[in-house]
Amino acid sequence: MTRRILVHNPKGGVGKTVVVALAAEWFLHRGRTVNLIDADGNHSCQEWVDNNREEGREISTPVDADVEIVDTKGVPGSAVPFLRGSDLILTPFQLYGYDVSEVIEMFDALPAELRRRVGFIPNRVRAMGLTREQAEGFEQIESLIRQEGVGRLLPGLVDRVAVYPDLFNGSPVNFFERPAESGKSVANAQQESAELFRQAERILGLDAGAPR
Ligand SMILES: Nc1ncnc2c1ncn2[C@@H]1O[C@H](COP(=O)(O)OP(=O)(O)O)[C@@H](O)[C@H]1O
Ligand SMILES: [Mg+2]
Repeated sequence: MTRRILVHNPKGGVGKTVVVALAAEWFLHRGRTVNLIDADGNHSCQEWVDNNREEGREISTPVDADVEIVDTKGVPGSAVPFLRGSDLILTPFQLYGYDVSEVIEMFDALPAELRRRVGFIPNRVRAMGLTREQAEGFEQIESLIRQEGVGRLLPGLVDRVAVYPDLFNGSPVNFFERPAESGKSVANAQQESAELFRQAERILGLDAGAPR
């Protein structure tokens, strides 16, 4: 049975494609097959797939994959065709007041059975700890989830400009299999994102019997 992950935020530039690429890398690393669907006309996800192919690595298996991951455009309503069939809706967002209000609006507009499937991912969190604005945004999402009794706040991703932008270049080596010589930031990013996707794996029931 294919598990479907939708990555959506009605805003652009918040880390959707980064989350799509990291999720794909995680499940490949765990021995699963992945089908990537690029529903964004900018095709940054498809470019990443093409860049990896040039490096000799095939990311996407279109038929009968274990996990299907849909990358969407940062425009309100762009996820509608994919919402119903999604087992998990990942929403990366930045912890700024305006961004937080937008994702809360998106969440409120979803029917209850879809709200249950939403996992919020705070992105570009400061490595030194949250700023006051970030802490407030965090609290707003936490209280929203508490009030509604559905949805969840997933482990966030730290702002790592030395790591994530380079991800899109493609590489012959899986992100989670890059050696320690790749540097401390890469090692930290591997650890932070592994924590996030282990949780996603549990939500999808893919943790038991993970091939490795
Ligand atoms: N945690 C992060 N640390 C550093 N840069 C990031 C992080 N998340 C995203 N970025 C960068 O921000 C830009 C926008 O991210 P992207 O995933 O393309 O957003 P979206 O798909 O939502 O438009 C990209 O250049 C990406 O590399
Ligand atoms: Mg994108």
